[in-house]
Amino acid sequence: MKDGGLRYPFLDLGKVNERYAAQLKEACARVIDGGRYIGGDEVERFESELAAYCGVRHTVGVSNGLDALRLILRGYIEMGVMSPGDEVIYPANTYIATVLAITHNGLVPVPVEPDRVTMNLDSRLIERSVTSRTKAVVTVHLYGRPCYDAVMRDIAERHGLKVIEDNAQAIGASVDGRVTGSLGDAAAFSFYPTKNLGALGDGGAVTTDDDELASVVAALRNYGMTARDMNRYAGFNCRLDTIQTAMLLVKLGRLREEIDRRRELAAIYDSMRNDMVTPADASCHGHV
Ligand SMILES: Cc1ncc(COP(=O)(O)O)c(C=O)c1O
Repeated sequence: MKDGGLRYPFLDLGKVNERYAAQLKEACARVIDGGRYIGGDEVERFESELAAYCGVRHTVGVSNGLDALRLILRGYIEMGVMSPGDEVIYPANTYIATVLAITHNGLVPVPVEPDRVTMNLDSRLIERSVTSRTKAVVTVHLYGRPCYDAVMRDIAERHGLKVIEDNAQAIGASVDGRVTGSLGDAAAFSFYPTKNLGALGDGGAVTTDDDELASVVAALRNYGMTARDMNRYAGFNCRLDTIQTAMLLVKLGRLREEIDRRRELAAIYDSMRNDMVTPADASCHGHV
């Protein structure tokens, strides 16, 4: 038995990518032959295709999902929207990256308990945690289930809070016809290989309609550079690799097919639930 005691590997990435292998190899060869390995056409094309997919004005490709979250918060700090010491509400039930993005920026994470049915942040519990130092709510669409509603929007509007979506696990999901990644003020995506849109390595992105945030995040991901030899911010190296972007372009075009296949497989697992080993037996890992 492989994969922590499961009779079948829960997610066989080799098999997942087998379906796209010919296109992935062609795309890889194009990058190798093209000789441009950082930035370039692939990155620009992917950013505009993901922005169009989400129905937002901007996408900024970055190195991974944690960095996407970190750069959104750092961007708001650079813009003067928040300062170290300010509070950010987040769901108590989430992957650790959500919290680290807050603490790495010197912000104070304020956990709010989940709804017992959805296991996502319970928006009815947000307001009691809002103080004069609260500047944002990070909502996490955990396990692909969107977590955004009128209650959350109303609280954010009344208290002047930014709503940041942690969309690492939910690309392709939607609420009332609007896809996740376009619901709040900014969103973070992860293209970790297991995700619905998985690279063949690390990758991430920020989406937003906010022109200023998009340009600050774009600068921050590349050493804070706003023009050649002009470093306006103390930035980072958090760029999205060109070769990974080429992989993502192939898979973005077939995202619906990938999600449909995962749904089919989930339905099979659901129908066989009684025969399956329990998560405790399977020693589950946190990375979804
Ligand atoms: C909810 C959530 N947020 C953030 C991340 C971080 O993404 P990455 O692993 O690309 O840094 C993940 C990834 O596993 C995640 O599941």
